[in-house]
Amino acid sequence: MVEDRILACHAIRDVDFTRGENCWLRDARGRRWLDLESGSWSAVLGHAHPRINRALKEGIDRVIHLNVRYPNRSAEEAAERVLAAVGLPDGKCVFLTSGSEAVEFAVQAVRRLTGRPFLATLAHSYLGALGSAGRKDPREWILVEPGLPGSGAGPHLPEGASLDAVGGFVFEPGGGSPDFGRFPPADGVRDLVDRVRENGGFVVSNEVTTGLGRTGLWFGFQHYGIRPDVVALGKALGNGYPVSAVAFSREAARGLEAAGFHHAQSHQNNPLGCAAAREVLDTLREEGWIERGAETGAAFLEGLRQVRDRHPEIRDVRGRGMLLALELDPGCGLDGYGLYERLWERGFVTGYYPAGYPSGTGLRFDPSLTLERENLDRFLEELDGAFRR
Ligand SMILES: Cc1ncc(COP(=O)(O)O)c(C=O)c1O
Repeated sequence: MVEDRILACHAIRDVDFTRGENCWLRDARGRRWLDLESGSWSAVLGHAHPRINRALKEGIDRVIHLNVRYPNRSAEEAAERVLAAVGLPDGKCVFLTSGSEAVEFAVQAVRRLTGRPFLATLAHSYLGALGSAGRKDPREWILVEPGLPGSGAGPHLPEGASLDAVGGFVFEPGGGSPDFGRFPPADGVRDLVDRVRENGGFVVSNEVTTGLGRTGLWFGFQHYGIRPDVVALGKALGNGYPVSAVAFSREAARGLEAAGFHHAQSHQNNPLGCAAAREVLDTLREEGWIERGAETGAAFLEGLRQVRDRHPEIRDVRGRGMLLALELDPGCGLDGYGLYERLWERGFVTGYYPAGYPSGTGLRFDPSLTLERENLDRFLEELDGAFRR
């Protein structure tokens, strides 16, 4: 039982999780649940991964926090890993604390680099909770229709705006909340990238959700054969510890420094967060979790297909890597929230889309890449049982 002092500005459940171990969460009374959403889709290496916990403990003993004026070795080391991973090895990096900050930083940077007020993004993209990216105000954004359900009426061109004069295209490679396990069509994305580049704009990939193995490759943009100039990372970067990053190509970084782009926050390039980020990137690479997660994701999708074939209440199952969704028939008498509750009772934590959600009702799964096969099988059996009761 938790007390009642946390502002209810989002859904809150009365449970007191006191321990996490890989994909398991345990409450104060010792009851355990298999976490199939890795916190907020963040603990890619599972809760309490020994390497990440060790890096954090050592980081605490070195120095937790420095004035942003003083660069530090942890930030340099994390930047080297991030830049190599995103394919911008001669670029530069900044570290912040949340995905929303990272995307908004990228947005402000691109506006500064180009001096152009308008940016393009896909109409259904989620770009965070803050600033211009969070608002996606049509007076600043051209919202391009990607042809996905629930995503609105078509390209919206604000007065005075043209797709040929945008500062950049902020691409969210899909699958997240508004998309409910669907991904934007590759041809449309590549056309947009080419058009923006030909006209001098920058390409930003918002990899806050899709980055670091979530969709079966290191980054979501790799499914599209494009090379972004700017990449925003969050969530998985700290395996749940709050650290995010924006990586810039050499050209973009030089442009920003030459323009005197100024941004200083208390926890920018924070040594502790950077120690976690460095260790996450090393662990993903050295232990082969991107490939292993892709294999588990394929087995998960195959298992969901088999469950779907037995239960007409399931309209569709889909996904990419370890970002998966199960869509219910809206007329079947069970919505995503109802199914989530049945699974919660059986000891599983999933994401859900309740009845009336624009792109469908059902469940979302974003497990850690470290999910064991036996636990996956156990879940699939219980999912089957949840329909049979
Ligand atoms: C695609 C995408 N971008 C940005 C964000 C914002 O990240 P944060 O919640 O860490 O601020 C999220 C969070 O869910 C996201 O899914």
